[in-house]
Formats: sequence, C-alpha cells, structure tokens
Amino acid sequence: MWKEYIKIKNYLKIKWEYLFLGTIFLILSISLNGLSLSTIVPLMDRVLSQRKITLPSNFPYFISLKLEPFISKLNSFPPLLILKYLIFFMIIAFFLKGVFIFLSNYFFRVFSTRISTDLREKIYEKFLNLSLDFFSKKQTGELTTRIVYDVGLLNITFESFFPHFLFPIFLVLSYLVIIFLIDWKFSLLSIFIYPLILIPVLNLTKKLRKLGKSIQETYARIANIINESIFGYKVVKAYNQEENFINKFRQYNENIFKIILSINKRTLLISPFIEFSGVFASSYLIYYGGTKIVKGEMSSGFLFLFFFSLFSIIGPLKTILQTYANIKHSSSALPRIYYILDYKSKIDEEGNEIFNGLKESIEFKNVSFAYDKNFVLENINLIVKKGEKIGIVGRTGSGKSTLVGLILRFYDPVSGDILIDGKNIKNFKLNSYRRFIGYVPQEPVIFYGTIKENITFGD
Ligand SMILES: Nc1ncnc2c1ncn2[C@@H]1O[C@H](COP(=O)(O)OP(=O)(O)OP(=O)(O)O)[C@@H](O)[C@H]1O
Ligand SMILES: [Mg+2]
Repeated sequence: MWKEYIKIKNYLKIKWEYLFLGTIFLILSISLNGLSLSTIVPLMDRVLSQRKITLPSNFPYFISLKLEPFISKLNSFPPLLILKYLIFFMIIAFFLKGVFIFLSNYFFRVFSTRISTDLREKIYEKFLNLSLDFFSKKQTGELTTRIVYDVGLLNITFESFFPHFLFPIFLVLSYLVIIFLIDWKFSLLSIFIYPLILIPVLNLTKKLRKLGKSIQETYARIANIINESIFGYKVVKAYNQEENFINKFRQYNENIFKIILSINKRTLLISPFIEFSGVFASSYLIYYGGTKIVKGEMSSGFLFLFFFSLFSIIGPLKTILQTYANIKHSSSALPRIYYILDYKSKIDEEGNEIFNGLKESIEFKNVSFAYDKNFVLENINLIVKKGEKIGIVGRTGSGKSTLVGLILRFYDPVSGDILIDGKNIKNFKLNSYRRFIGYVPQEPVIFYGTIKENITFGD
C-alpha cells in the first residue's frame, strides 16, 4: 500500500522541502510537549509534597549522570521559587508549542495540497491527450467519476495523513520514550498487561458472531416451515402431518430460545468482565508503582508522569488506527489513477513534419478500421480532390462518423493509409495538421462562454 503511495513521485514534482520543514517543526513541537509534561515531576515532588526529586532506580545510567546536577539544583531551590519558574516555563513552552504546531501543519498542508492539485492537473492533461479509443472503452461517466471521486478520496487522505497519522505516531513514540526512560520493566509490564485482558474479549466476540449466524439460519428454517405449511396445507392435512410439523417447528423455536440465551449470557458478561480485569490490571500496576515509591525507588512525581503518559497513549493510538483504515481504503484509488496516467495513447507516433494545408487531394487507400473486433470500415478506397464537396450517405451505424474521425486522427486505421497530397497523415505533427480542419460534430457541443467564442473555437 505504501509503495503505491510513494509511486506518486514518479508522476509529479514533489516539494520535499516542505515535508522536511514540516517534520522538523513536528519534532520540535512533540519534544516541547514531552518537556512541558515533565514539569509535573518538580511540581508534584518539590511544590505539592515538598520533598526531594529522586530519579527512578531504573533510569538509564548515562542520562541520570547528565541530569543529576540539574536535579540537585532543583532540590536546593525553595518550592515557591520553583513554582514561579514552572509557571514561567509553562507559558513560554505552550506558546512555542503552538507556534511549532502551526508551522508544522502549515508546511505539511502546503506539501500535501500541492500534490493533490498537481495530480488533478496531471490527470486532466493526460485526459485531453488520450486517443479516442480510450474514451470508447470507458464510459464518460465513469471517467468523470474517476477524476472527481478518486482524486477527492486521495485529497482527504493527504490532508489527514499528517495531522491524524504522522502526528499521533510521533506523539505515541514520545510517550513511549518517557515511560521507558522512567522504568523500562514497568513499561513492558504495563504495555502487555492490557492487551492480555483483551484476548478473552476477542474470543467472546468471535463466538458471538458465530451464534449470530446460526440464529439467522434457524430463523430461515422456521420461515421455511411456515411457508411449506401455508402453501402445502392441503397435503399436510391429507397426510395427517400436523403433529410432525408442529414438532419440527417447536424444535427450531426452542433452538432459537437457547441461542438467544447463550448470546445474552455472553454480552452481559463482557462489560463486567472488562471492568473487573481493567481494575485488576490497574491495581496491579498501582501496587507495583506504589511499592516503588514506598521503597524510595521512584518519587510520586515520576509515577504520576508515568501513568499520565501511559494513558495518554490510548487516544492517539485510536486516531492512528482509524486513519490507517482510511489510508488503506483510499489506496484503492491509486491503481485506477496510475492506469490513466500510464495509458499509452494509440496515436502517439505523431510525425514531425509541419502541415501547410491541403494542395491537391485526400486519399483513402485500402483503409480498414475496427473499434474492437468487428470491422466498421473495410478496404475503403476514396479520393477527394481539393475544392470538391462530397456527401457520404449510409445507414445509421454504417461508419460515416468513423470515416471522418479517421481523417482527424481521432483513431488510426487498423490497416491501410490515409494520404494527403500523397503523404501519410501520420507524418504530420498532430496539432499543425488539425489546425487546418474545421469539424462540426454530429452531437453539437456548446462550450461555456459567448456564442462568438463558440463559433471561433480554436482560433
Ligand atoms: N467509440 C466507439 N466504440 C465502439 N464502437 C463504436 C464507437 N463509435 C461507433 N461505434 C460503432 O461503429 C459503428 C459505426 O459507427 P458510426 O458512428 O461511424 O456510424 P454512423 O454511420 O456515423 O452512424 P449515424 O448515422 O448514426 O451517425 C456502429 O456500429 C457503432 O456502434
Ligand atoms: Mg454519425
């Protein structure tokens, strides 16, 4: 899926510098977020409980060496001074965090909107340069949907990718860094303990799905029995089958009763089970953390920071999962868009010669043409002299418009050649050639604009 997205760079000029700037400011704002969260430690330890800050015993040694002087300074300051510093720091930190988040979102937005804007243009440009066989294969309605829907889908994904996917990923990472720094053993324990609770719940929901299915099947059987007894009631009565039918009905009906009970038992169990195991897991964590505080292995500020960061992971994690589903869904638009962008035009072998206008004649030499398999035109030979006016007459669907389309090079003949003054029209540069042709299609098209602009269209 990601490969498909990255492939976009083959078609567009990507502005990497905006991605780079956005990422830098993203990292800055996330770091500042972590830093301002950490002020909870001196606030709790020094100001609220007026004790000394002690680094957790499992704190990485090389970092605690660096932090030690800073912490002993904090421990020597009077609480009120620390409170003042903290408030001052918070104000500045939150201001800067806001600026960084703004800048990061801004650069990401420029980056992604540039891509979707350029993509729209690329597809439209490709469209206009496609040979007509493309349009005969695909319904025009489907094509319009493709541009509008697919690009719209990608647009939404591009827009939400940075704020709702990359940002929460960095956020989760920063929380993980915090909790693992404080106590890696405790972190591992906490991260594994909650998913463990979910395993029985997942099993339960699987079983519920199965039960739901069998209840539907049983209902279908019952409906069948009722149907049979209504439409075949004469036969049922003639053969004294009432008792049999009632027994069968009763059996299925009782089955439904049993299944509903068993479903109810399980759904009613889920919520208290989750609640109880949540409390069980949490109390284990609180016991573990509390013991550490009592033993002096961790101060309450760090424990608080730990729990706060741990539970802050859940929110962004949900966002990541949701956005991931959207990104995956939208990626289905990519192959369709690449199909258009990669489509090889059937008349791309245009020549280099500049066409200077008709001098003598247009000639069809053994021209045959088929849209798909069936030939519409076969071995057409025709010479039209300059100045000659001709009408082509034929049944509807006999190929008149196709013949004219061949002169315009909407398509090229499957076999045979079309010559102008003895030269194959494939030799001419396409737009120099079409410049000399006036074409009024069978189905008139009025373009948006004035009548004058429509009459002088193309000049
Ligand atoms: N884009 C296309 N793709 C596939 N088949 C086509 C396409 N356009 C025309 N045809 C088929 O080719 C045949 C010739 O069509 P064409 O439009 O040239 O006929 P025509 O003589 O101009 O008819 P009319 O008198 O109705 O304008 C028809 O059978 C038509 O169904
Ligand atoms: Mg026609």
